[in-house]
Amino acid sequence: MTTDVTSRSGLVLPTYGKPPEGNHPPLDFPGYRSTGLRHPKKPLVLLPQRLTEVTGPLLGADLITPNDADLTTQHDGEPIGQRIIVSGRVLDSGGTPIPDTLLEIWQTNAAGRYRHSREHHPAPLDPNFDGIGRCITDSAGRYRFVTIQPGSYPWGNHYNAWRPAHIHFSLFGRAFTQRIVTQMYFPGDPLLPLDPIYNSVPDDAARERMVARFDIELTQPEWALGYNWDIVLRGRSATFFEEPHDAT
Ligand SMILES: [Fe+2]
Repeated sequence: MTTDVTSRSGLVLPTYGKPPEGNHPPLDFPGYRSTGLRHPKKPLVLLPQRLTEVTGPLLGADLITPNDADLTTQHDGEPIGQRIIVSGRVLDSGGTPIPDTLLEIWQTNAAGRYRHSREHHPAPLDPNFDGIGRCITDSAGRYRFVTIQPGSYPWGNHYNAWRPAHIHFSLFGRAFTQRIVTQMYFPGDPLLPLDPIYNSVPDDAARERMVARFDIELTQPEWALGYNWDIVLRGRSATFFEEPHDAT
């Protein structure tokens, strides 16, 4: 439930409401060990949006080039791995497409290694793959990335802990305060039932909404597999949500 606030100039400023039950993980989830140390110890305070947050400029549209959405062409050579196309729509809670909105992704290479200074996994780096992409949705709210199937990697949460293959997504919606950070998974991954991060989302249907669908129509003959994944934001009265982790 939200309580909108009307500013002195008459503009209605939506207030963030309580997240729907079951859609988002608890901030302290015992199976995901590090949340025990970093979750807020006091109740969250819901603040009204301010004028600048509602009317401020969206980020980055004029800085994005088509090359940013193709992670396989950002170097002189091609990266190693299974080429994939990941595409879908960004929608608000009413099913309305959200055009001209910025998406950012980051992921491991095919061997399960991030190009990051704090990466410890002793898998090879790929000189032709950075694992970072950006794009802007088109007029129908559609995004499209070309990339490489990411690998699984160990993460030390518990004995023999391996993350299922995933792509991190960050979306900015219509304003910076609507930013959502989440992960997309791949269908049939045998690590999904064992992963505390995936399983920290309580609701079965909400969990499954994080798994992309293999799409033979999106698949291109002799070239790349296609995965379809739609993302639903909650419109102007969006519930603020941020995962309790960042680069894991
Ligand atoms: Fe990750």
